Amino acid sequence: MNNQISKSTDSRPAPETGETLLEMRGISKLFSGGVLANDQVDFEIKAGEIHALLGENGAGKTTLMNILYGLYQPTAGEIYIRGEQVHFKSPQDAFGAGIGMVHQNRKLIPAHTVIENIMLGHPATRMIINEKKAKEEVSRIEERFGFDIDLDARVWQLDAGEAQIVEIIKALYLGARILILDEPTSVLTPPETEKLMYSLKDMVDSGLAVIPFITHKLPIVLEISDRITILRNGRVVDHIKTKDATKTSLAQGMVGKEILFDLNRPEVSPGDEILKVEHLSALNDKGFPAVTDLSLSVREGEIFALAGVAGNGQHELTELLMGLRKPTGGKIIYQEKDITRRTIKQRWKAGIGFVPA
Ligand SMILES: Nc1ncnc2c1ncn2[C@@H]1O[C@H](COP(=O)(O)OP(=O)(O)O)[C@@H](O)[C@H]1O
Ligand SMILES: [Mg+2]
Repeated sequence: MNNQISKSTDSRPAPETGETLLEMRGISKLFSGGVLANDQVDFEIKAGEIHALLGENGAGKTTLMNILYGLYQPTAGEIYIRGEQVHFKSPQDAFGAGIGMVHQNRKLIPAHTVIENIMLGHPATRMIINEKKAKEEVSRIEERFGFDIDLDARVWQLDAGEAQIVEIIKALYLGARILILDEPTSVLTPPETEKLMYSLKDMVDSGLAVIPFITHKLPIVLEISDRITILRNGRVVDHIKTKDATKTSLAQGMVGKEILFDLNRPEVSPGDEILKVEHLSALNDKGFPAVTDLSLSVREGEIFALAGVAGNGQHELTELLMGLRKPTGGKIIYQEKDITRRTIKQRWKAGIGFVPA
């Protein structure tokens, strides 16, 4: 293997499926502001399994994994990697023990190519290496796990799902045996999610361990994981085998009370058309088309939903409706008046409100 780049330093033979790779025991984290983000958390993962960490926003998932990744020091508790206690003082230490993390907020350099990003920028990287050799190795990883990313593309050209795959490939290339994924499906379309699930299955089949954290997508947890740990308010509520879990039991564990998935709403009969968008087009901040020839009609008394993965023009559309962005074509009609050229204040006075993300 090419060792000019600093890779995982665990030189022991590859773990066998079923071997406990990682144990966290009694982990607590008290932040200086007084938040007890983790409260005596136990967590373990074996080679060959996907162990999902499930919990609502603020449950403590990211904190736990930041401790595992050496970004935070625990206030109490111990971490064991393949049976040996470790003290990670930095991500380099965690990484040297074979732990790879894919963050929710991407850490790639947009102006660099995919292969450059894979080779560089990692905290453990010491020097520039032979790109040709790296490409061969990375292509083998792509082939093995069914990824298809152009290694010469610049990262800014990738969509969010592809950027995430680059981070996964990078972690694997650098020798991760435990792959931590922070909310991996939040930026993916349903077909991309399905593809990622297959790739993760291939990874664990070859002896890796994967820890995805999930906030809301229970069907995905049920589909991909072997075991689930549920966190609530920093504490472990349950460790369960996925085959013994249901959507309802998981939701109940996360929230602490019974959850109804079916909302019984009375039939509504929508009234007059209140908002009409006709052939609306606009550019995004980079000057590329964000909204193209879009038409829609909203009637009084109805909830009108726009569905789409982030980055497909929803944000620009809301700005267009509010007057925060200028259209390059088309019309916005509100209460039968053309408001396309109206100011933000005029629209607001007319009754259009906006709650930014
Ligand atoms: N660096 C920090 N300083 C203080 N409080 C924090 C910090 N990071 C997270 N918290 C708090 O810890 C709790 C758990 O957060 P987090 O681990 O991010 O949860 P999750 O990833 O499950 O959404 C939250 O109440 C959050 O506000
Ligand atoms: Mg989080």
